[in-house]
Amino acid sequence: MKKKLTRFDFQKKKQKQEKITWVTAYDYPTAMFAEKAGMDMLLVGDSLGMCIYGYDGTIPVTMEQCIGHSDAVRRGAPHTFVVGDMPFLSYQVSVADAVQNAGRFYKEAGVDAVKLEGGRRVCPQIQAISDGGMLVIGHIGLTPQSSGQLGGFKAQGLTCESAAALIEDARAIQEAGAFALLVEAVPPEVCKVITDMLSIPVYSIGAGIHADGQLMICHDLLGIFQAFTPKFVKRYADIGRHMESAFTSYATEVREGRFPTSEHSYRMLEGEAEKLLKAVEPSE
Ligand code: KIV
Repeated sequence: MKKKLTRFDFQKKKQKQEKITWVTAYDYPTAMFAEKAGMDMLLVGDSLGMCIYGYDGTIPVTMEQCIGHSDAVRRGAPHTFVVGDMPFLSYQVSVADAVQNAGRFYKEAGVDAVKLEGGRRVCPQIQAISDGGMLVIGHIGLTPQSSGQLGGFKAQGLTCESAAALIEDARAIQEAGAFALLVEAVPPEVCKVITDMLSIPVYSIGAGIHADGQLMICHDLLGIFQAFTPKFVKRYADIGRHMESAFTSYATEVREGRFPTSEHSYRMLEGEAEKLLKAVEPSE
């Protein structure tokens, strides 16, 4: 049976320069297949707002949605490290909210860690969650919950000045007690500086090859999410096309009377059909 990795395994993998694999999952079957494929970590991202609920962004996503989906993922992948993503307003208002809501992920969904977005300004929250005995992953670079402030879903750290600010954020997040850091949509050179500088593992989504591991959004990787495709996405399958083709075949067969056949139908016990027909025969 697969052994669930711990924070110490992730730390050792960084030291041994073994890359870890991380993908988002929002439901039981996806989590199950990801675990079978040997994924090291799963993120129940608030990207579920776009991928599952069809919102334009992550702002409307609630704690209830994140906990419900994390709970399903936990059951689908009992032997994989699962990270719950703290949605907008679950940690920004106060440190007490942050600890309370991180604790809900642990108690109600059985996650192994939580992730939250932001740099120095969320360090008090990271420290308090960590002091509460929970594991936290920081997230800097393109942080979708503050995409309005960033001017949209745009790459970050493109200038020396903005890269330096990210590096300061990364340092502060490690100091605050995060056990790992995710860097999103940042040039590889910047992520390399952060990865080499921090003792905790640094993971990339769209931040290049030098990080200690990679995260991908499952619906991007599988070709299910069609609204837009960021530059850093590589499609490994075209499941959306397979779904459309299966639905079309099913609808065609139903309309043409080719489904269901006897192969997909139950049989009455020997002689019972004749009896039934007699019983419903109109009496003269
Ligand atoms: O919600 C999510 O899937 C994320 C990734 C975009 C990093 O936070």
